[in-house]
Amino acid sequence: MKVVSVVGARPQLVKLAPIAAAFARTEHEHVIVHTGQHYDVNLSDVFFSGLGIPDPAVHLGVGSGGHGAQTGRILEAMDPVLAAENPDWVLVYGDTNSTLAGAVSAVKQHIRVAHLEAGLRSFNRRMPEEHNRVLTDHAADLLLAPTEEALRHLATEGLADRAVLTGDVMVDVCLSIRDAILAGERPAVELPEGVDPAEPYLLATLHRAENTDDPARLATLVAALADLPIPVVLLAHPRLLARAEAQGLKLAQGALRVGPPVGYAAMVATVLGSVGVVTDSGGLQKEAYLLGRPCTTLRSETEWLETLDGDWNRLVPDPALLGPGEWVATATRPAPGTPLGTPFGDGRAAERVVEILGRRLG
Ligand code: UD1
Repeated sequence: MKVVSVVGARPQLVKLAPIAAAFARTEHEHVIVHTGQHYDVNLSDVFFSGLGIPDPAVHLGVGSGGHGAQTGRILEAMDPVLAAENPDWVLVYGDTNSTLAGAVSAVKQHIRVAHLEAGLRSFNRRMPEEHNRVLTDHAADLLLAPTEEALRHLATEGLADRAVLTGDVMVDVCLSIRDAILAGERPAVELPEGVDPAEPYLLATLHRAENTDDPARLATLVAALADLPIPVVLLAHPRLLARAEAQGLKLAQGALRVGPPVGYAAMVATVLGSVGVVTDSGGLQKEAYLLGRPCTTLRSETEWLETLDGDWNRLVPDPALLGPGEWVATATRPAPGTPLGTPFGDGRAAERVVEILGRRLG
């Protein structure tokens, strides 16, 4: 069997790591195509080197752009690559513009498409990720659902026949990196200047278009983080830096200690060293849950409903609406005593994905 994985953005590289490792343990041929949606070293290269992923066979180098332009450029560049590779499956990951373009190119060339992390829904049709998920799920031949909840969404949309529950490959990579850190096999956490790793700190990230692209909303969120009573390590995505600069908004204020995005092991180490997480990232909500740190999500909805169980994750659509006391109490609340479940699977999802792709070929 020959499988082409199409990736391009940071979270896809994390999911690719356990998949590439699972393929490497088989006789199957696995070809990695990088669209170039993310091109900064710390959004792309560090994931290949840090997670031991083989170099991409093809790099499309599309770079940034508006949604139509970026998706269109990937689609145009992908067509000849898939025609030449002619794989048994194209595997697309998650919900980015690279996901949708990879799926559309394959479908139009009558190549089977499998969607990893299928069935997630925010039901917020203003999010670019929601368009990408829904369209990719309806185009794909095989839907690899990470959770029961995702499987239910697919069934509701009439896609049950194409769907299969695999568990979440993020569990595979997150727990193995956690174990390596705890065993001292990975370097200790490196924090931005002025943060003492021995003192309590919160980890924050902010990159979603709905939070960064509206100046008033971004100013509110930054002010809320700056007001917290303990250091807030803000690992800033380039989109956040670009929007803050364009708006003349200073990020390094109050409690905020700004650093660059970090590789995966450093991210896991930073979560482990923190007393809690404040974020709008889907992946980080889950990592906080898997690593047992309370999470506050700066959105009105989450695709990962399971993280809300037992108060491990709390949605705060707008900190200003809570009032200062309640906002501080929420963001700095201690880990709840409630047990963590295993709604995201057993850490062997990647193996299962490879096995299912082989089995479904016939
Ligand atoms: C994309 C995904 C989002 C995912 C996120 C992870 C879409 C629609 N969104 O958002 O689902 O959660 O990746 O990070 O696909 N930029 C750089 N260097 C880079 C890449 C981007 O400076 O290597 C800057 C550019 O100014 C660019 C902006 O970030 O315009 C946004 O990048 P883009 O790839 O469009 O989307 P993300 O916000 O990264």
